[in-house]
Amino acid sequence: MDHRLGLGPAEEVGPVDCPVSGDLPAWLDGTLLRNGPGSFAVGEGRVNHWFDGLALLRRFDIADDGVTLTTRYPRSEAYHARTQGRLGAREFGTDPDRSALAALRDIVDPAVTDNASISVAYLADRWLALTETPNSVAFDPETLDTEGGFSFDDTLAAEGSGGLAHLHRDASAGETWGFATRLGRERGYALWKLPDGDSEREVVGTVDRSRPAYIHSFWLTENYAVLFESPYRLHLPSLLYKPFADAFEWTDRPARLLVFRRDSGEVVAEPEIPPAFVFHGVNAYETDDGLVVDSAVFADSEVMDAFRLDRLDSPEFTQPTAEFRRYRVPLDRRYGNVTSETLHPGPFEFPAIEYGRRGRRYRYAYGVGAPTDDEGRAGFADRLLKVDIETETTTVWHPPNCFVGEPLLVPRPDAEAEDDGVVLTVALDAGEERSFLAVLDAESFEERARATAPVAVPFGFHGQFVPRGERYCRSND
Ligand SMILES: [Fe+2]
Repeated sequence: MDHRLGLGPAEEVGPVDCPVSGDLPAWLDGTLLRNGPGSFAVGEGRVNHWFDGLALLRRFDIADDGVTLTTRYPRSEAYHARTQGRLGAREFGTDPDRSALAALRDIVDPAVTDNASISVAYLADRWLALTETPNSVAFDPETLDTEGGFSFDDTLAAEGSGGLAHLHRDASAGETWGFATRLGRERGYALWKLPDGDSEREVVGTVDRSRPAYIHSFWLTENYAVLFESPYRLHLPSLLYKPFADAFEWTDRPARLLVFRRDSGEVVAEPEIPPAFVFHGVNAYETDDGLVVDSAVFADSEVMDAFRLDRLDSPEFTQPTAEFRRYRVPLDRRYGNVTSETLHPGPFEFPAIEYGRRGRRYRYAYGVGAPTDDEGRAGFADRLLKVDIETETTTVWHPPNCFVGEPLLVPRPDAEAEDDGVVLTVALDAGEERSFLAVLDAESFEERARATAPVAVPFGFHGQFVPRGERYCRSND
């Protein structure tokens, strides 16, 4: 089975019908919006890293009369540059050809990409494609037509701070929370919040770091926001002549969990933990004596190198495995002793939960799994996992001859049980060379329906399901 079919390039399609087989639940009525790279080409060459693929938005419209797929490349500045065979601005792992003067100018006013290929979110009263630069792209969720570039109108944006493409929405407070990585004169991390409908983020708390870590996601509980600070740190002078991906390096600095109070922004705990690297947190919640922080955890940052295109595009591609790990963080001391346990040995990545349990005690975590070789290295994701934390058992959905993407749990309306709903994923049938939307029963973890697209859709990163007539993903939050 050759995973390279999932690396594109993709033509835009749709809306096209995706014939449904099986039993699609009548209540599943809405849109799955997803984002991810669609093409790696730049003129006769290509970009260097998976994260630099040109953003391709994907939309599965799911209704009782059928399922359609639409894909569109946002008309970003990056898109227009690439249609002319060049890179418009600095990507994560690929720099445009720059003069020394331009490189110096970039230090003061970095021209970074608007190739927003990682996730989507409803913010500031519009749908945005997001990446880790300050430059997002607004789009129409019905047509996927580009509405224009978007960046926040606030102090963080003025500093050119990078951001996370993984945000958290607190529905009860009507706020979205996120972190920015400051790379200017002041360097470190800034915790921010954004009331629904606003476009100006409020900085809640900051931490100074001469060498900020690469941070991709965070955790949000009722009272705390938590960052995983790995030893994978920026060497700022390298940015003069290297892309971002090459300016980060694995250092001998300690790893820490940074625990911010949401009300004051104060860091109340920053315990050291054994070195490790994290893309995706799973969930966190408060207990009587501290925090439980659950995550997909790599031993180190090698996965960043594994996602370079020359490695990803190899038929012998392997990557390090992440395990599903639980940290217990005491909050009675600033530098307490964190303990950890393995909830699943992995490979376990692209985690998802019932989002109404975000910040609360929960039982089920979903993720992608993969085959492993004798050395424990993972291939490409080809199965979905449902981990029952309470019974320490795992259920696997492993469709033959397929690759799978991020799972997404959609609760049934009025559901009370945590796994009363469906799990959606976009899978690629390598034999048929077609992608399909798979709908699994979240409780039994058996496939109940699939809607097959007439084309192969490249592997994506992240998405959201939006019930028809609503703006945010459904949750019991
Ligand atoms: Fe991510």
